[in-house]
Amino acid sequence: MPRHGVEMWDRIGEREVREALRPGLPWSGPVCLAVTDSTNRVAMEMAENGAKHGTVVVADAQTAGRGRMGRRWVSPAGKNLYVSLLLRPSVPTVDAPRLAIVAGVALADAVEALGVPASLKWPNDLYCGGRKTAGILAEMASDPGGVRHVVVGVGLNVNMEEADFPPYLRGTATSLRIRAGRAFRRVDVLARLLDAFGTRYAEFIGGGFASLRDGWDRRDFLRGRRVLLRRQGGEGWGTADGLDADGALRFLPDGGTATESVHSGEILEFRR
Ligand code: BTN
Repeated sequence: MPRHGVEMWDRIGEREVREALRPGLPWSGPVCLAVTDSTNRVAMEMAENGAKHGTVVVADAQTAGRGRMGRRWVSPAGKNLYVSLLLRPSVPTVDAPRLAIVAGVALADAVEALGVPASLKWPNDLYCGGRKTAGILAEMASDPGGVRHVVVGVGLNVNMEEADFPPYLRGTATSLRIRAGRAFRRVDVLARLLDAFGTRYAEFIGGGFASLRDGWDRRDFLRGRRVLLRRQGGEGWGTADGLDADGALRFLPDGGTATESVHSGEILEFRR
């Protein structure tokens, strides 16, 4: 019988997560919640209260899942992965936002290891078959002494079917299940993600973005496309030209003569 709307084969409790995880990974917890407002909020609060690097917070459902730009993340029970990772990286404050890019590469590694081809749309989206499948929201606390902690939140549509999406997302969002034509055990998906993130995080800490940029470049969804970029100071069309050595978007504005490096912004539209 379903419990809290979750089939037992797809339960995502502490025991199941521990059993699925490969030994030797830097993760602890996990804290598995049936329902919460936002795993990012919980992880940020735990961080303020001293929880350690590597703490994993997972929920079966969120009532106020946070998306980028103040949007809500659709988070129904028993369908998807909603996970937040608490990190205490020893990196300069300016480098910390790059952890969302690191998470994107790890997420793509994990999804492809499950047999679903994936691409990455700057700054923080995973696309499968041309539709958004996952989003990443990194939140940071810092002080003049440096980064106190970063929480990287991942929302991955795993077993959603077309009819499960609200109408406004039906033409633009997809899930692993829709792409692969089969359901996935969410705990297996989480284990892959934690495995891949452990590897990519170590690469990033050891060698910066350069050591994993190949993982981004070969999956870059926007490269060569015309895009409508919103950034501080306004919106404008131009052409995306990959990422620079820091993980910033290289953007050639229409009518411009030089490529600019964009560290933060949002792609509102894209064309072939
Ligand atoms: C986006 O807007 O694309 C980012 C969405 C990030 C959603 C995830 S779900 C788990 C974690 N907890 C949250 O409240 N948000 C992130």
